[in-house]
Amino acid sequence: MPTILILGATSDIGAAIARLFASKKFDVQLAARDTTRLITLKNDLSIRYGTRCDLYTFDAIDFFSHADFYGKLQPKPDVSVCVFGYMNENEDVAKSVSETLKTIQTNYTGAVTILNTIAEDYALKKKGTIIGISSVAGERGRQSNYLYGSAKAGFTAYLSGLRNKLFQNGIPVITILPGFVNTRMTEHLKLPKLLTASPEEVAQCVYKAFQKKQNTVYVKWYWKWIMCIIRLIPESIFKRMKL
Ligand SMILES: NC(=O)c1ccc[n+]([C@@H]2O[C@H](COP(=O)([O-])OP(=O)(O)OC[C@H]3O[C@@H](n4cnc5c(N)ncnc54)[C@H](OP(=O)(O)O)[C@@H]3O)[C@@H](O)[C@H]2O)c1
Repeated sequence: MPTILILGATSDIGAAIARLFASKKFDVQLAARDTTRLITLKNDLSIRYGTRCDLYTFDAIDFFSHADFYGKLQPKPDVSVCVFGYMNENEDVAKSVSETLKTIQTNYTGAVTILNTIAEDYALKKKGTIIGISSVAGERGRQSNYLYGSAKAGFTAYLSGLRNKLFQNGIPVITILPGFVNTRMTEHLKLPKLLTASPEEVAQCVYKAFQKKQNTVYVKWYWKWIMCIIRLIPESIFKRMKL
């Protein structure tokens, strides 16, 4: 059976991806800071789908542990999905060096260091798929969310470069841009219903993108056009807007 690695498996989106791939007969490796929180999901996947499910401790901002973490995975995953992320109120982040570092290091540096390790292995084997959950927040800096957004912009650019590099090795690198999603990360926000996806919709999008070896996918198609318009607004107007 093929194996999928979920980095950030305590997330609502990560759990939904794990469930969907298990239902498609994938073995699952769940990685998170606190693996005790994954026991219910592991048992559920094993009982419901008869899948092999292993738990691994992983901290995105413990950069120097990433090579060891990947070395311990048995077997090496066929598909690796980078789901973890961190978002706090922009103003609170801007006032705090530790929050600023946490935002940049979780969403960008940690994602890059673990995916560099995985990419090296996949390139040698000429086998594997890398999927990153980035964000439309990375498409243009907005005053309400530019710290998280700029870290995600970096991650999107990284995935784009990695895709370009690994194409010659036959390794698909897929960027998922979810728009708003109803999860623990956004539970304090009032999200517009029409623009908001469920974690299960994100998981369906990830599975379809994996099957079709897509490049960059917006979970709800209209986000592509919303972001296209937002990118086209001239800076002289954009800077006056309260977005
Ligand atoms: N919700 C949205 O509207 C939305 C939109 C666009 C993109 N996204 C992205 O989707 C992904 C999943 O987020 P979500 O919405 O499902 O939110 P979530 O439930 O809050 O998930 C965030 C995940 O990141 C993990 N994480 C944070 N810091 C970590 C670290 N240092 N090491 C390892 N794991 C760490 C958290 O682990 P703990 O449980 O240990 O805290 C949690 O599993 C994120 O990359 C997010 O940026 C979300």
